[in-house]
Amino acid sequence: MINGKKVLFSGMQATGNLTLGNYLGAMKNWVTLSDEYECFYSVVDMHSITVRQDPSTLRQRARKLLMIYIAAGLDPEKNCLYYQSHVSGHAELAWILNCFTYMGELNRMTQFKDKAAKHADNINAGLFTYPVLMAADILLYQADVVPVGVDQMQHLELTRDIAQRFNGIYGDVFTVPEAYVGKVGAKIMSLQDPSRKMSKSDENPNASIYLMDDPDTIMRKCKRAVTDSEGQILYREEQPGIRNLIDIYSACSGKTPEETVKEFDGKGYGEFKMAVGEAVNSVLKPLQERYAQLEKDKAYIDRIIKENAEKADYVATKTLRKVQRKVGFPDRIR
Ligand code: TYM
Repeated sequence: MINGKKVLFSGMQATGNLTLGNYLGAMKNWVTLSDEYECFYSVVDMHSITVRQDPSTLRQRARKLLMIYIAAGLDPEKNCLYYQSHVSGHAELAWILNCFTYMGELNRMTQFKDKAAKHADNINAGLFTYPVLMAADILLYQADVVPVGVDQMQHLELTRDIAQRFNGIYGDVFTVPEAYVGKVGAKIMSLQDPSRKMSKSDENPNASIYLMDDPDTIMRKCKRAVTDSEGQILYREEQPGIRNLIDIYSACSGKTPEETVKEFDGKGYGEFKMAVGEAVNSVLKPLQERYAQLEKDKAYIDRIIKENAEKADYVATKTLRKVQRKVGFPDRIR
């Protein structure tokens, strides 16, 4: 508990262009939950270098992502929005937790297997221990809840296992976090291949809607979305393309998939796709406008970055010192 509220932690990588999947699967829920919890939203730049990055591009993207957090509706005076690399406790706790995580557990991580296959020339140790750094992110703030998309569930389970293992040895040190996965939009699929998730790293730009896409591009991508020849707008496994569009429409308009199916009963795919495009635009347009405003205010963003890093560091250090003491590191001499 901080300030009488339960704690929420989540983060996003500043690699590639953010997609509608990132927004509907995570960021939208962040905003909804932000009043109820004491929130820490990190730009996880340390995670990004598990894949080779161009330094100046990474720096730019990290700043852009922090501004997108604000543009999406997270008030930086109330929510702690900060860069992971500005709080050294993440790396320090990750090292300790590495010593409480088994190779076998990390070997089972599907994201590691996927990324290793994709970057066969750079299967580094950081890529392998990535989930431990993620556990450190969460446990450092004693988070009660972690809002994520479905693809992060396996990492969340591992985080809980590590926390419970550590607590089993040293007493109640860590809060064991719960994942929060939204009812709609937790797994947005590619518009070109609805069997795969919509991903920042997809090479086909038509497969993803990017948060900064202009309205015409969004309409075009929706119109071109791969569907089927069934001709009926039904929410079922046999129609993965249509089901994905129903998810997108529902998440953007705040309706349930059932309500969406009812609304478009008897309508054609063309009309439905237009409505999906419009619903997406109605969500992204205000975000893009706020973002354009923020870009002009460098001093304000700089202040947010500095103050929030200090706030995060304060909370993180408290947990870190406790953990260091528990594992037997000598006390600091003051
Ligand atoms: P990342 O940067 O890949 O994704 C950020 C968030 O977006 C969600 N997401 C999706 N949701 C629905 N449909 C999709 N197609 C889709 N694609 C992405 C992800 O589930 C995630 O919630 N390892 C994490 C970042 C991280 C983190 C953490 C998250 C580092 N430390 C601690 C939570 C807590 C990642 O790479 O997310």
